[in-house]
Amino acid sequence: MSFPEGFLWGGSISAAQAEGAFLEGGKSPVQIDYGDAGSTKGARRIHYRNADGSRGTMYQFQHLPEGASYEFFDDVHYTNHVGSDFYHTYKEDIRLFAELGLKSFNTTVSWARIYPRGVEGGVNQEGVEFYRNVFTELRKYHIEPVITLYKYDEPVYFELTYGGWENRAMIDEFVAFAKTCFTEYKGLVNKWLTFNEINVLAQGAIYPGSEGRAKGLFTELHNQMVASARAVKAAHEVDPSIRVGCMIAGCSVYPMTPDPKDVMAAYSYFQDEFCYCGDTMVRGAYPSFAKRIWHGYGFDLEVSEEDRKDLLEGKSDFIAFSYYFSNCVTTHKPEGRSLMRRGMYDVRNPYIGASDWGWQIDPMGFKFLLHLINDRYQVPILDIENGFGAYDKISEDGKIHDDYRIDYHRQHIAAMKEAVEEGVNLFGYTVWGFLDLVSFGSGQMDKRYGMIYVDMDDQGNGTLKRMKKDSFDWYRKVIETNGEELN
Ligand code: BG6
Repeated sequence: MSFPEGFLWGGSISAAQAEGAFLEGGKSPVQIDYGDAGSTKGARRIHYRNADGSRGTMYQFQHLPEGASYEFFDDVHYTNHVGSDFYHTYKEDIRLFAELGLKSFNTTVSWARIYPRGVEGGVNQEGVEFYRNVFTELRKYHIEPVITLYKYDEPVYFELTYGGWENRAMIDEFVAFAKTCFTEYKGLVNKWLTFNEINVLAQGAIYPGSEGRAKGLFTELHNQMVASARAVKAAHEVDPSIRVGCMIAGCSVYPMTPDPKDVMAAYSYFQDEFCYCGDTMVRGAYPSFAKRIWHGYGFDLEVSEEDRKDLLEGKSDFIAFSYYFSNCVTTHKPEGRSLMRRGMYDVRNPYIGASDWGWQIDPMGFKFLLHLINDRYQVPILDIENGFGAYDKISEDGKIHDDYRIDYHRQHIAAMKEAVEEGVNLFGYTVWGFLDLVSFGSGQMDKRYGMIYVDMDDQGNGTLKRMKKDSFDWYRKVIETNGEELN
């Protein structure tokens, strides 16, 4: 057998994208609650009211302009207010997960359900009990919960009170939240991830015109990595058997040409976007090239002795990553293109295809990245997100024949299998968006990843009824045979 016994064949969703019930059970609003349903072409926008009464929109992760406030508008459709309604349907959904044979399930604990108004506002017991019920239900079917603490969904209360992650008060808030979770769910949850795709935060600085935000963004990222390290230490104090991982957005990057400049550009992309966080969180210290990045933006990040100590003592027990696509870069300006990121252009790789959203499909890139991670970190690896977003159609026979999704997963699992046979220390594979949910980037419900269909569209029409897609039965067989049967 290629995959070890006990390999975690999983499915993944997140609170803000699937639960809905955005103001129920004592939860306070998070930034994404103010986001609309974008489109195939554009990212969703966050809506707010300016100080002068006019309306404004911004991208996720940005902060409100001076004097502006978040507000809900009747003419905007907010897809995640209902999401997939998992808050109300989790029992029925988990029964389906069990029928498929999932070994593990990943979701997030919504911070805004546990501490809607920070530590000062106190713990919201109703939120604590909600997740206890979810985890207990999973355990009932022997499905291991692998739980993420943070997916860009802190209560907006923090932005309004502290101005966001640049303020170190956020570190204490996060550690308190993490400790509450470790303590409350001790014995129920043994595997935790601290920050989802933590590296995405600093990407806000790489595009021309955004350099001015770099110092702030890297400070936010630093505070999150320190918060994560302290949470790892706290978890081990609560229960030494708890395993806590970091989670990094992964992407294989190729040089478009053998020009050494292109090769160096591709390698520095990997350093800057993966290893900057990976090294700090898994090895416990900033890598030597961190200075090149900071100096490139014209600043130096000051790291206190105490933070250095925390980073070293709070190293992640394992590394989790997401993988959807690969990228290709060149330093040679393609015709008609403006500069995409520092010193290089993203280009289409002519050897691979892409999804409707332009995400380049590359199973070999998955294997390549698995090897890079394994060689560099030498700790257990968990693939926590891999999936294919597509428009699904209900056929005349009333079914959803999502062969394209089956193909995507088949090829990625086959590539992963080779990596495992070649010695990569991987302990799980998780299908992202296992239950249809709201796309994070585009805000659409119609960009579907699921093996379970949820009847709801971008305009809010639908019954929320669940339906198994063809990929459901296919994945059941994969799990039953521990990855031996992929056809
Ligand atoms: C990952 C996120 O980056 O990509 C998920 O962790 C997200 O939350 C997934 O949903 C797919 O991206 P999108 O934009 O298609 O939802």
